[in-house]
Amino acid sequence: MNNKRFYIETYGCQMNFADSEIVNSILIDEGMTPVHEAGEADVIFVNTCSIRENAETRVWNRLKEFRSLKNGKKNLTVGVLGCMAERVREQIIDQEQLVDIVVGPDAYRDIPNLLAEVDDGRKAVNVLLSLEETYADISPVRTSGNGVTAFVSIMRGCDNMCSFCVVPFTRGRERSRPLESILREIQQLSDQGYKEVTLLGQNVNSYKYRDIDFTRLMDEASKTDPEMRFRFSSPHPKDFPEPLLHLIAERPNLCNYIHIPAQSGSSSMLERMRRPYTREQYLELIEKMKSIIPGVALSTDIIAGFCDETEEEHQDTMTLMEMVEYDLAYMFAYSERERTLAHRKYDDNVPEDVKKRRLTEIIQQQMAIQEKNNKKEIGSRHLVLVEGESKRSDQQLSGRTDTNKMVVFDRKEYQKGDYIEVEITGCTSATLMARPLKKRSISEYHAEPALV
Ligand code: 5AD
Ligand code: SF4
Repeated sequence: MNNKRFYIETYGCQMNFADSEIVNSILIDEGMTPVHEAGEADVIFVNTCSIRENAETRVWNRLKEFRSLKNGKKNLTVGVLGCMAERVREQIIDQEQLVDIVVGPDAYRDIPNLLAEVDDGRKAVNVLLSLEETYADISPVRTSGNGVTAFVSIMRGCDNMCSFCVVPFTRGRERSRPLESILREIQQLSDQGYKEVTLLGQNVNSYKYRDIDFTRLMDEASKTDPEMRFRFSSPHPKDFPEPLLHLIAERPNLCNYIHIPAQSGSSSMLERMRRPYTREQYLELIEKMKSIIPGVALSTDIIAGFCDETEEEHQDTMTLMEMVEYDLAYMFAYSERERTLAHRKYDDNVPEDVKKRRLTEIIQQQMAIQEKNNKKEIGSRHLVLVEGESKRSDQQLSGRTDTNKMVVFDRKEYQKGDYIEVEITGCTSATLMARPLKKRSISEYHAEPALV
């Protein structure tokens, strides 16, 4: 047993946040206590991200801050978890004595042993990747969060090898978590009062456990509790299953919202990115989504300035985004990552100022589209799941529509975890303002959507 206090700081994607909840569980089982301030901890872990250079830079800077904390506090242990583990390991062996312990994304079960090694005065490292590890039997401990919405990991790793992406190297091969353990976790969340679950994986439509595919998983998951609603992230456009679209359209608690990363709107660029679909095939999929699920909200990921990107290819991305009219987009300038195909074979040859200018054009156009989309919402009704007080005022609540739009409205007698029917009265490009009408349930709302 170990009675130390630990603090975990998490960077990067939702998957990393879900992983930190697994590590919470492992450490609490050891007898350790989570604390919310680095200054109160005996052990500090940084769960890291490698996806772009600026993510890594932030982590390196943070580790340097923790090193000065270490200088003032004897027996403070600092550890690195997750995607940067391999790189930090090299650094530790080479030179800077920044951290004591380094743990890759598939080695979290080994943390107690590694901590014991550190207590014995050694540096401890485990960065082995696994073909099987899904942490299926570990119940994540959610020490932060709102108690209403939760992430559940359904698979790990990625086999897609997009040419720009380091994830297949940092997180290893794709593997799916057993269905029963996913359903058990969802049931526990429902029993604890959670109202929304996002199923997570690097590439969710590759989910395969025995003869169960992703559509069947969504079907089973959504049947566990009809008053709990479900989202998923992220699917790949290359093999998005059409039966899932019909299931989303029919099932009231499957949200009418799909995050479907395009990365680029140019077929030649998609080929260089090793994304096995064309602009036309992507647009065809979007049309299918819009026609099968009326009112579906869509979001995407876009990379500006990938290797050899011409002005024409950039314009293809602009027009694709204009045609789809995404409700939300995550937009990035290309950042070269070691080990990827692009690093080995292509030249990162779009000048920084051109990358920045293209990214700005993409972002500005997207903000205008979002504002236009949001204006169309004024006067319409939505069912909002209340996630908590709004950031601006404790007299207002905030939550999301089924279509994943943030809504703010007067508190009245409503509470966190309630489903409230609202009428939209105003908007910005990021938020909708609304008038709350009545507390409702998902099933009742879908049986009779417009309250009279
Ligand atoms: N540079 C910029 N953006 C990247 N992404 C992945 N790799 C890179 C990179 N090297 C983006 C992709 C992906 C999202 C999670 O991060 O858009 O979908
Ligand atoms: Fe990276 Fe492509 Fe896998 Fe997504 S699908 S994690 S972008 S390699």
